Amino acid sequence: MIVASGLRKIYRVGSMEIKAVDGLDIFIEAGEFLSIVGPSGSGKTTLLHLLGLLDAPTSGSISIDGMDTAALSPKQLTRLRREKIGFVFQEFNLLPVLNARENVELPLRYLKVPAEERRRRALRALEMVSLTDRADNRPGQLSGGEQQRVAIARALVTEPVLVLADEPTGELDTYNTCKVIELMRDLNRDTGQTFAIVTHDPMVADYTRRIVSLRDGRIASDSAGPEAALECDAGAGDIR
Ligand SMILES: Nc1ncnc2c1ncn2[C@@H]1O[C@H](COP(=O)(O)OP(=O)(O)OP(=O)(O)O)[C@@H](O)[C@H]1O
Ligand SMILES: [Mg+2]
Repeated sequence: MIVASGLRKIYRVGSMEIKAVDGLDIFIEAGEFLSIVGPSGSGKTTLLHLLGLLDAPTSGSISIDGMDTAALSPKQLTRLRREKIGFVFQEFNLLPVLNARENVELPLRYLKVPAEERRRRALRALEMVSLTDRADNRPGQLSGGEQQRVAIARALVTEPVLVLADEPTGELDTYNTCKVIELMRDLNRDTGQTFAIVTHDPMVADYTRRIVSLRDGRIASDSAGPEAALECDAGAGDIR
């Protein structure tokens, strides 16, 4: 489904050249459930932004469903991204003036979905992340973990074929981490949606079917994940 080859992203800051992604090849098939791990600064977010068509590579190519993305106009790229890709940002990127439901509705607004259907689908997505009762709260009135779950609902609301999630459980306790991964894994199994999840958390990586490990902007290893069984028990200290 996604084929990236010779992918490079070089940032220039003053006279410095930072090779954030440095000649990387990756093939992600439809229906995969994979994690991307690696030390801080190894290029995980940069890679996710490239694969999500949020950022253009310095060189190299990305094709999605056999379509070379370099051949697409900015307008076509935007449409492809809005229709097919759901993105969970490392810093959430929620709009502070909108409440949780309105934030989740945003991608549907861009797709020109009628208001009533938007509201219904946004509430359903919030229900999936157990936040129905916080729908009217603005991000500033939510905890970090709750904001993260709103960001996840926003990524899922369009039912994208590909979900790219950057540290989607970074702010969550063990119980909620388990619930979020369980939700993603169920969606992956039931709908065939593809998930690529960046994580620092070895437990999260262990739940996935494939673990891609980055180092200095390159793939250091790419192997089968244990796909550990999920049992989400609320333990001491966890907030439901
Ligand atoms: N906009 C930018 N301008 C300059 N350098 C950047 C920019 N974005 C990222 N970098 C650099 O590129 C490298 C890779 O960054 P990236 O954010 O992809 O790492 P990461 O693996 O996601 O790290 P973390 O685990 O801390 O989120 C880092 O050295 C970073 O400083
Ligand atoms: Mg990052």
